[in-house]
Amino acid sequence: MNFWNKLLEKPLVGLSPMDGVTDAPYRYIQKKYGNPDVIITEFVSVDGILHGGERLFQSLIYDESERPVVAQISGKTPELFFKAAHIICELGFDGIDINMGCPANNVSRHGGGASLINTPDLAKRIVKAAKDGVKSWVESGLEFAEVNRKVETIIKCMKKKLTLNRKQQDLNQAGKEEIPVSVKTRIGYDKKNAVEWIKHLTEVEPAVITLHGRTLKEMYKGEADWDEIARAVQSTNIPVIGNGDIRSSNDAVERIKSSRVVGVLIGRASYGNPWIFKNKVKIKKFDANIEDYEPTLEEKIQVVLEHARKHLEIKGSNGFIQMRKNLAWYFKGFHNAAELRNQLVKVNNLSEVEAVLNKLI
Ligand SMILES: Cc1cc2nc3c(=O)[nH]c(=O)nc-3n(C[C@H](O)[C@H](O)[C@H](O)COP(=O)(O)O)c2cc1C
Repeated sequence: MNFWNKLLEKPLVGLSPMDGVTDAPYRYIQKKYGNPDVIITEFVSVDGILHGGERLFQSLIYDESERPVVAQISGKTPELFFKAAHIICELGFDGIDINMGCPANNVSRHGGGASLINTPDLAKRIVKAAKDGVKSWVESGLEFAEVNRKVETIIKCMKKKLTLNRKQQDLNQAGKEEIPVSVKTRIGYDKKNAVEWIKHLTEVEPAVITLHGRTLKEMYKGEADWDEIARAVQSTNIPVIGNGDIRSSNDAVERIKSSRVVGVLIGRASYGNPWIFKNKVKIKKFDANIEDYEPTLEEKIQVVLEHARKHLEIKGSNGFIQMRKNLAWYFKGFHNAAELRNQLVKVNNLSEVEAVLNKLI
């Protein structure tokens, strides 16, 4: 039984993948303080990983505590998905998710991401290639001859890093089951046609489909259309996870009940707020009027400092600037919050973060 099936016994509440946001330190903190049921990495292009793009591999660093953790991959060439699946399996991930929802020009303009909605035959070949890649890895493992020298070195180096956290089993052994391949997509390209699109995906049987209730053309504008998601749910035997504009536990309960999705992924509402996942047990029981958890200022500061330290540990001092947006996201909605954010978006290192936050205690 793959991990999705186990999760699907009750509605699941997971962290949505977000490029430039759900990096390794972000995921670590979200898991530790919110504990979403499933975690998905930001997308990594199959072309990039097969060329040994080191920066891309950084997106695939994960902590053992994040499990089940799924790697999201994007691209448009089935053969590359076949090979990339080997690498993802080799790195010990619990699943592979294929990005068919990204509207960003640099992905969709080249035929990947959400533009695959317009090329369903190619989309189906991609899902099949990824599934075949997983099977082939289970049967014969990763032949290093298949990937170039640079990729081989990066994988060895990553495995060493990941093994530091892996207590029970050796990575190679642990991953020897077939991991599930899922798809995350949107309700259409330039018009809403989720039912027709999902029919295509159903033919190649992804383990689950996550559906964001906007078309590619809508990008992130307007409101997610949960009625369209509900129509898609009725039209397929593949479990559908709903996504889009869930801002509270009550939103999650309401959307799961009305659209009959098997769960939800939460994206932007997790910015600076891992606690959004804290009530997932109540969500699973469909409780009414759930009060979302509000940490004290002291508690929040401790978590922010831990996030900043984790960020430094994983990304090094050169990457610290990426932490600024996170710092600002944590502090909203109180007197002087804007002034505090103004200071936090200018910090260059951990000591500067500590100096700003220590003034608050
Ligand atoms: C900054 C940002 C980056 C995103 N990157 C990805 C990504 O890498 N892969 C993906 O499937 N979706 C990506 N998305 C879409 C989200 O996963 C999610 O579908 C969307 O934000 C709607 O959910 P929300 O309203 O809960 O945020 C991204 C969204 C944002 C805002």
